[in-house]
Amino acid sequence: MQKLIKGMVLAGGSGNRLFPLSSVVSKQLQPVYDKPMIYYPIATLMSAGVRDIQLITTPHDLPMFEHLLGSGSQWGLNLSYKVQHAPRGIAEALIIGKKFIDDSPVALILGDNIFHGELKLTEELAAFRNGAVIWGYPVDDPERYGVVEIDDHGAVLGIEEKPKYPRTNLAVPGLYIYDHTAFERAAALTPSARGELEVTDLNRSYLSDKQLKVIQLDRGVTWLDSGTHESLLDSSRFISTIEKRQGLKIACLEEIAYQLQYVDEEGLRSAIARMPDSPYRTYCESALPE
Ligand code: TTP
Repeated sequence: MQKLIKGMVLAGGSGNRLFPLSSVVSKQLQPVYDKPMIYYPIATLMSAGVRDIQLITTPHDLPMFEHLLGSGSQWGLNLSYKVQHAPRGIAEALIIGKKFIDDSPVALILGDNIFHGELKLTEELAAFRNGAVIWGYPVDDPERYGVVEIDDHGAVLGIEEKPKYPRTNLAVPGLYIYDHTAFERAAALTPSARGELEVTDLNRSYLSDKQLKVIQLDRGVTWLDSGTHESLLDSSRFISTIEKRQGLKIACLEEIAYQLQYVDEEGLRSAIARMPDSPYRTYCESALPE
């Protein structure tokens, strides 16, 4: 039988581009409209059936994440925490999370990435056997990201980190699936010029073994990262526009947990009972049966 997929959410890093906001509180705890940023990537994982999740954070921010998210049991999740002592790169998470991941496949998501729309993550996770899966998303400014080049059949030809002259407009979002070889591969990487274990190098390691699959996201999916003041504001505007139009919340973890039956009605009721009187509480109440 296939091992249960583990999830990792990365909220280490320095968040320097958000200074001075980030000197007060972690980037991933900043508000994206009506929720802390970290709710969105957690929602992405839990919507795809991933319930055993480890969050990577800094020593400074750990208590705040624990205060906000706790054990995750209020959402039917098993949340654990690990510290990354310095921002030594995204691929270091696979080393830090070795014990947690064990020999399971892992879905890794960056804590400042927001996805909305049909990612087909559930299907990908169900079909996943080995290797690595990344996504490709058309953007206007690919030079800010890892950029992937594919052939006419969708096979990966190459992947480059923040290239000056990108060969395509396909950026690699912060969502990856790795098999149990990820730890060894990450441990074998050498730090880049900026002193980080680069996720692009990890992906290249899979590519050189012909084990890297890319899924192209179409324009119906929205992918936002919220690492700059401008993109943080864009994310808030986006979430607020959709939520107001539909009267539905994006990434309301209580609602997702209840809909997916991670918690029963009693569980949802007791989560609501702990909330102060607020529009968020009123919304959660509307998810309860009549
Ligand atoms: P980045 O936005 O590349 O880096 P950062 O968060 O340190 O921000 P800045 O560049 O403004 O200083 O990180 C993307 C995501 O990956 C973010 O959610 C934090 C996470 N991350 C880690 O958890 N550990 C790391 O060592 C790095 C580099 C990033």
